[in-house]
Amino acid sequence: MVYRVSAVWLSFLLSPLALPALARGVGPRDPVPAGYHAEPYYPTPHGGWLDSWRDAYAKAEALVSQMTLAEKTNITSGVGIYMGKGQYWDFAPAETTTDWVHRPCVGNTGSADRLGFPQLCLQDSALGVSSADNVTAFPAGITTGATWDKALMYARGVAMGKEFRGKGANVHLGPSVGPLGRKPLGGRNWEGFGADPVLQGKAAALHIKGVQEQGVISTIKHYIGNEQEMFRMYNPFQPGYSANIDDRTLHELYLWPFAEAIHAGVGAVMTAYNAVNGSACSQHSHLINGILKDELGFQGLVMSDWLSHISGVDSALAGLDMNMPGDTNIPLFGFSLWQYELTRSVLNGSVPMDRLNDMATRVVAAWYKMGQDKNHPRPNFSSNTRDKNGLLYPAAVFSPIGQVNWFVNVQDDHYLVARQVAQDAITLLKNDGNLLPLSNASKTSVFGTDAQVNPSGPNACLNRACNKGTLGMGWGSGVADYPYFDDPISAIKRRVPDVKFHNTDTFPSNIGTPSSDEVAIVFISSDAGENSFTVENNHGDRDSDKLAAWHGGDKLIQKAAEKYSNVVVVVHTVGPLILESWIDHPSVKAVLFAHLPGQEAGESLTNVLFGDVSPSGHLPYSITKSATDYPDSIANLKTFTLGQVQDTYSEGLYIDYRSLHKQSIKPRFAFGHGLSYTTFTFSNPTIRAVTPLSLVPPPRAPKGPTPSYSTAIPAASEAYYPPNFPTIWRYLYSWLRPGEADAAAAVGAAGTKKYPYPAGYSTAQRAGPAAGGGEGGNPALWDVAYEVAVTVTNSGAAHAGKASVQAYLQYPTGMPYDVPVVQLRDFEKTRELGPGESQEVVLRLTRKDVSVWDVEAQHWVAPGAAAAGAGAGRGADSNPNNFEFKL
Ligand SMILES: *[C@@H]1O[C@H](CO)[C@@H](O)[C@H](O)[C@H]1NC(C)=O
Ligand SMILES: *[C@@H]1O[C@H](CO)[C@@H](O)[C@H](O)[C@H]1NC(C)=O
Ligand SMILES: *[C@@H]1O[C@H](CO)[C@@H](O)[C@H](O)[C@H]1NC(C)=O
Ligand SMILES: *[C@@H]1O[C@H](CO)[C@@H](O)[C@H](O)[C@H]1NC(C)=O
Ligand SMILES: *[C@@H]1O[C@H](CO)[C@@H](O)[C@H](O)[C@H]1NC(C)=O
Ligand SMILES: *[C@@H]1O[C@H](CO)[C@@H](O)[C@H](O)[C@H]1NC(C)=O
Repeated sequence: MVYRVSAVWLSFLLSPLALPALARGVGPRDPVPAGYHAEPYYPTPHGGWLDSWRDAYAKAEALVSQMTLAEKTNITSGVGIYMGKGQYWDFAPAETTTDWVHRPCVGNTGSADRLGFPQLCLQDSALGVSSADNVTAFPAGITTGATWDKALMYARGVAMGKEFRGKGANVHLGPSVGPLGRKPLGGRNWEGFGADPVLQGKAAALHIKGVQEQGVISTIKHYIGNEQEMFRMYNPFQPGYSANIDDRTLHELYLWPFAEAIHAGVGAVMTAYNAVNGSACSQHSHLINGILKDELGFQGLVMSDWLSHISGVDSALAGLDMNMPGDTNIPLFGFSLWQYELTRSVLNGSVPMDRLNDMATRVVAAWYKMGQDKNHPRPNFSSNTRDKNGLLYPAAVFSPIGQVNWFVNVQDDHYLVARQVAQDAITLLKNDGNLLPLSNASKTSVFGTDAQVNPSGPNACLNRACNKGTLGMGWGSGVADYPYFDDPISAIKRRVPDVKFHNTDTFPSNIGTPSSDEVAIVFISSDAGENSFTVENNHGDRDSDKLAAWHGGDKLIQKAAEKYSNVVVVVHTVGPLILESWIDHPSVKAVLFAHLPGQEAGESLTNVLFGDVSPSGHLPYSITKSATDYPDSIANLKTFTLGQVQDTYSEGLYIDYRSLHKQSIKPRFAFGHGLSYTTFTFSNPTIRAVTPLSLVPPPRAPKGPTPSYSTAIPAASEAYYPPNFPTIWRYLYSWLRPGEADAAAAVGAAGTKKYPYPAGYSTAQRAGPAAGGGEGGNPALWDVAYEVAVTVTNSGAAHAGKASVQAYLQYPTGMPYDVPVVQLRDFEKTRELGPGESQEVVLRLTRKDVSVWDVEAQHWVAPGAAAAGAGAGRGADSNPNNFEFKL
């Protein structure tokens, strides 16, 4: 047997935060601004009351009813950070094991081996299997959003789901819809699909469907209000910031994509690091028990984000079902607030058995729902090392070594969908004099380090935490390793072998006088990522470079435009930039936003540049002329203060285009904008009322039955360590020493020492709110209210192309609610239409799409129907023209 000293723990011990965990219960909190508060909501609604999950819950009930206390607490928690390759006791001799900074599956639960319930492997990221070999590095979420193509959103999900399954992951930690994209400077907006709830919601639902059809549990994250990176986490010195969000804004913007994900049957939800209204998201009873599990009828499991678990009993009562990766928020001391502590909390009577049964059942039901009881492959990769053999417990002080990588190639032909997404996302913002498409006979010079892959290799920077070479993705946990990188300059050279490439971000001084037909293609970038890494002084958020191109890219364009009369700008970016210093320069004839293309950056771009296809991407956010076109609350990041940083959503519903419309500010390029090489006409628009609308949805059905178990505190012996069990230091176990278990059970049996339960605590199950009743909310919210049809014709003569049709809802004036001027409600993309070809496109608006969240009624109200009901003769039913659909 070969052991190696593991070094990973040293880095944590040396960190200034390596102090004993400071558990923050739901007790005293930092003050939030007047008016915001976190209303308690107890108890956690039992899962299992919906038909769509009936079978999975029946199987889960049968399994969980056989579990011991220690098995139940084992499967609801991780076994510790960097732990959990426990299945593979294959002590092959080590060959070269030099790589200790990576990780195994980023999360690994405990198992109930006796009953055949395995450890679950939870793996990042939202754009591919992270830290693994032989996988596809897909385009990022923001790129996928920019395609505005539902078929591609789904196809990317299918391909990604196959890769997670092929590597043996049970849970895919994506998609991300929080952040929504409220702050243009926010660090992780690029992991989601764009700054609009409907774009995010539809993309996420299609992604989830694609992933889960492959038998992998998808995770919608981060719930909720994680709109900036800096100050998001709780640590012993400071709580995470508080996102202070009013109820209507929550429902109509930030919650919307989560509701769509739950409606699509998502199996898991991950809570955010930050607080909402002063209460941490991982223990927020109103958000988890009330909104997620009661109003939205969520039947799957709720997990914490990594190391955001800050209370044991309170988080369980608030509705958290799984603690990831198992540790307290200061890891690697072998401490958990669950596992053995959750076992103790049940024995001493503080966490009701009823709650633990529901937690375990939700985990097992999600596993059955995706069919993982049938031949789901076991994990066959390690994010800890690329070597065949490695440390089995990298966090243990002495770890055995065994085989950890089987190099399963899961890429198949997924490069095709990756390239199609990258290509169809490319957004043409300007094309003066039809400079594009270029001919491959053009005399071409290329400028900018962003045109060529990082010379040290595409994966040279851990977690992509650098911006060197072509920017294919942001940084942090939301990345994957590139199997290869098709960079733009190589693809351009395949077309124009004698292209001149200036691999620099400073305009060279020795450029001669170009001829008037010579073309300069200038590549610029803007990067962002997770707050765990700082890149060129940007702390996750774009706090240093702001909305300017990195490495002096704006200057590079200006210099090129002074010299060349035909400049094409290619932008790889996480989000909007301010383009004003060069956009109106007469030499800057064409601008392409290629977003974050992933591994297929090259050919996807040249297919557009050289006119094999017309660009068909559209902006998933607005590009303003100035950062201050938005109010301070969204234009600026929150900076350091003592105590809890307060991030108050004082702008309400008015973010991105909703804000600009309200203030009558014209953007440089509008949300949804994108040009083509051809032109399209829209004709024969029709609107058909489908389902007649009442003011509010019809009453919901009562909840169906849920599993029933004994609620008695189990025997202490169910928690005893097996005799002579060989423990590994810092591995987290759910057992207690017999003496400890007996002592806790004595407290529970006496019932004299009461846990200080939070205000509003109750154990009586509720009927559920009127706005609930199905997955995502009241089922009638998804009734189609209107169908909009339009004929799209390619009216150009020379190029084929795909058109994007977007339906925005505009309420008539005089509404009883303050409403944004227009709101995106549906979108479709045509197939590629040749010149003169037409296609009829149908878009649908649901009841929810035409409703407003009424805070007093706590319900979705269709104001058009209100007018009809009041006999005002302007009802949506009788006169659908009340709703003006702009196409
Ligand atoms: C936050 O406080 C506002 C104002 O009281 C309230 O409308 C909203 O429901 C609260 N949200 C949460 C999640 O507690
Ligand atoms: C908890 O999970 C670990 C890892 O799979 C396993 O070794 C242990 O036996 C489990 N404990 C119980 C009580 O089943
Ligand atoms: C992919 O797997 C093969 C073995 O099948 C291995 O030789 C190769 O190095 C792997 N590729 C990467 C990028 O790790
Ligand atoms: C890895 O997954 C493949 C299927 O993708 C499976 O055939 C293989 O047995 C797995 N390897 C291990 C060690 O479980
Ligand atoms: C029961 O145990 C938990 C976990 O250690 C602890 O937080 C709680 O205070 C205990 N309850 C009682 C009544 O002692
Ligand atoms: C341009 O590209 C096309 C398609 O690859 C090729 O057929 C043609 O020969 C090229 N022309 C030049 C001048 O290289």
